Amino acid sequence: MPDYILGSEKQEHDRLRHQQLVWGSYSYAAIERAFPVCDIKKEFHVADIGAGIGLTLPYMIEHFHIRNNKSSRLYALEPSKQSAKEIERIISPDVKDQIKIVVESLQDAHKNNSIPQGSLDCIFIRWVLLYSNTVEQDLTQLVSWLKPGGKLVIQDYNHDSLRVFPTEPAFERMTKAVCDALTKQKGDPHVATKIPQLFHHNANTQVESIICNVQSGLNKSDIWEWFGSFCKAHSKTFIEVGVIDKSECERFKHEWERMSEEDGKYLLFSPMVVDIIIKNL
Ligand SMILES: C[S@@+](CC[C@H](N)C(=O)[O-])C[C@H]1O[C@@H](n2cnc3c(N)ncnc32)[C@H](O)[C@@H]1O
Repeated sequence: MPDYILGSEKQEHDRLRHQQLVWGSYSYAAIERAFPVCDIKKEFHVADIGAGIGLTLPYMIEHFHIRNNKSSRLYALEPSKQSAKEIERIISPDVKDQIKIVVESLQDAHKNNSIPQGSLDCIFIRWVLLYSNTVEQDLTQLVSWLKPGGKLVIQDYNHDSLRVFPTEPAFERMTKAVCDALTKQKGDPHVATKIPQLFHHNANTQVESIICNVQSGLNKSDIWEWFGSFCKAHSKTFIEVGVIDKSECERFKHEWERMSEEDGKYLLFSPMVVDIIIKNL
């Protein structure tokens, strides 16, 4: 795997927290689409893969009633030690024994058998596969962790809808840099457009649903601030990987500030966040 481009510094953790406020409800809706009702007495074994700082874990603990059945398990797999420490910090003591924090990449965890094969009811994986250059193999490994009837809930991007209207050259330059940075690191800004096809001809899996979410907003809206904070946090990285130069970046910052002040003039469309639910038959 190439190095993960966004890192795990405090600034990125703060950005992830804000991101959860903007996108969290979409993730909860995707999990609820896969598991509308969970029997409070049932034993659930679930996982969040590439869990970051664990922002979806509290929801998963509640939704799958992890506390109510002491045999239930929640795996939080996250390769970054700094991020895994944040996960430890947010897990409440009453459920600690049931949360298994696996500080490994998805690929290493599979190699090391850190999650038992065929053991999971639900795997949630959000904004991880776009950074991978082994997506097809990753998906096979993820499915191998599912029980028969278990479900893989993927949320990932198709960046095509990321636009502002009226268009602005500095904005378009930055969105190109965002996509180029991913591609340069062997990731894929359009990864979600390729996943359902990989499962379609597989007799052991069924593509249960594909839903696309795009948020849109004027200046000062949550989605506007979300995109601004992403560029602010990572423009230095984009310069370092050589997909935009310093002067173009400065120009974007200047233009974004101006656009943010022009009340009601510009309408931002987010990248598509695609929910893909795969059932293991
Ligand atoms: C954009 S963050 C998303 C974090 C979390 N899923 C969320 O939605 O808040 C991407 C995460 O993927 C993790 N990651 C990167 N490469 C990975 C790999 N090969 N296996 C598992 N996780 C990986 C990163 O460490 C990071 O925490």
